[in-house]
Amino acid sequence: MPTPLYDSLRGLAAQAPLRLDMPGHHGGPLPGGFPWPSEIDFTENGRTGDLYGGEPDDIQAAEGLWADRFGFDSCLFLTGGSTQGIHAGLALLAGEGGSVALDRGSHRSAYHALALLGLTPYFLSRPWLAEEGVAGPISPEEVARTLEEHPEIKTVCITSPTYYGVLSDVPAIAGVCHTHGAKLMVDGAHGAHLPFLGYTGYQAADVMVTSAHKTLPAPGQTALLLANGTGLSALQRWGSVYGTSSPSYVLMSALDTARDYMEGEGTARYLETVRLADALRRRWPALAPRDGLALDPARLVLLSPGGFALADTLRQRGIYPEMADAGHVVCILTCAGGPSEMERLERALADAGLTGPCPSMPPPPEPPEAVLTSRQALFAPRERVLLSQSAGRISAGQIAPYPPGVPVIAPGERIEKKHLAYLREIGYNEAYCDVIRPREE
Ligand SMILES: Cc1ncc(COP(=O)(O)O)c(C=O)c1O
Repeated sequence: MPTPLYDSLRGLAAQAPLRLDMPGHHGGPLPGGFPWPSEIDFTENGRTGDLYGGEPDDIQAAEGLWADRFGFDSCLFLTGGSTQGIHAGLALLAGEGGSVALDRGSHRSAYHALALLGLTPYFLSRPWLAEEGVAGPISPEEVARTLEEHPEIKTVCITSPTYYGVLSDVPAIAGVCHTHGAKLMVDGAHGAHLPFLGYTGYQAADVMVTSAHKTLPAPGQTALLLANGTGLSALQRWGSVYGTSSPSYVLMSALDTARDYMEGEGTARYLETVRLADALRRRWPALAPRDGLALDPARLVLLSPGGFALADTLRQRGIYPEMADAGHVVCILTCAGGPSEMERLERALADAGLTGPCPSMPPPPEPPEAVLTSRQALFAPRERVLLSQSAGRISAGQIAPYPPGVPVIAPGERIEKKHLAYLREIGYNEAYCDVIRPREE
């Protein structure tokens, strides 16, 4: 199978060139026996292509294979995670000073992009699924209502799947966006594996961002920005604004080889993992798909009356889940695991005895009043105060407990007593928060 970038770098390395350029190791080993494929760790040298350049090269060939697999016209490799892609994608679609319909549960990079681009957000809310204790999908109706109320919005940005694996109906939401003359960007940071498992929903979006490093066998920071209808040069332009001008060829090659692996053995192993995850879901209380609730089939979200205690017990047995909250333990299962890993998890679950229905959690309150814009809140002087003493203050950051995984308070919003009461009730355990420092008289 073709791995154009990796093959060409290997070919170049095999010629034992005298490297008098970056990186400083010049293709030799790193001190301390640090395992790093220095021989393919190149810079742009006229033979290795240019991530942000215009001429077709091996990087573009490798990106093209990803674009084909995901069903998009173009793909840009990212070496700064989905964070880089979310900034670049929102700059590309929304530009400066526009309006955006934003999933209230967006990652903080989207909130930072709002501030840096001076965007006005209109938040999309999610229904609270009391039985599961998580926020449900963004509905097409919610998107339609927001776009009808604010026809000036030309960009919609949602996250799918969420940290808890909740998928929204991307094609239906894209349809609503396009009918209203808006573009859809999907933060699929946690969904890089889904197209390999047959999921085609992302293709309906105009822009999609995903972190290969989260759910595929790929190193930290590797991610992808994919788009329909914008052309690669627009992705390169905005990717370069938010990315390093010295992108790592090792990371880019790892994207090339991760895709190639997933075209064959990786997907077979992933499908086996999905089968094992299904079996675990039948034996242990866990989030399960149902009518109106589509889930990432590989994400195992265990239910527990004491999620933190269950996660601690697992850690004591050398098992490290991705995340825990009062009622859930989130495990990211990938093609890297198999039957023996699942058996180990099952033995630990049996010993721990802490699975069961999650405690009932109230729905999050309505978002508070926005007093400052995201931009004003990002740049204003701030101070750290005890959360318990923050009523009436304007938040400088996101206060985002899991669940709902949705900021109860976003930057620039006034912290009200009812929000503090809710945070107490759900056992939010951050003692401090950042608030805007009052102006000196
Ligand atoms: C939903 C979501 N979007 C974006 C990001 C940012 O991804 P990265 O860490 O690859 O920059 C994260 C990180 O956890 C995330 O959970």
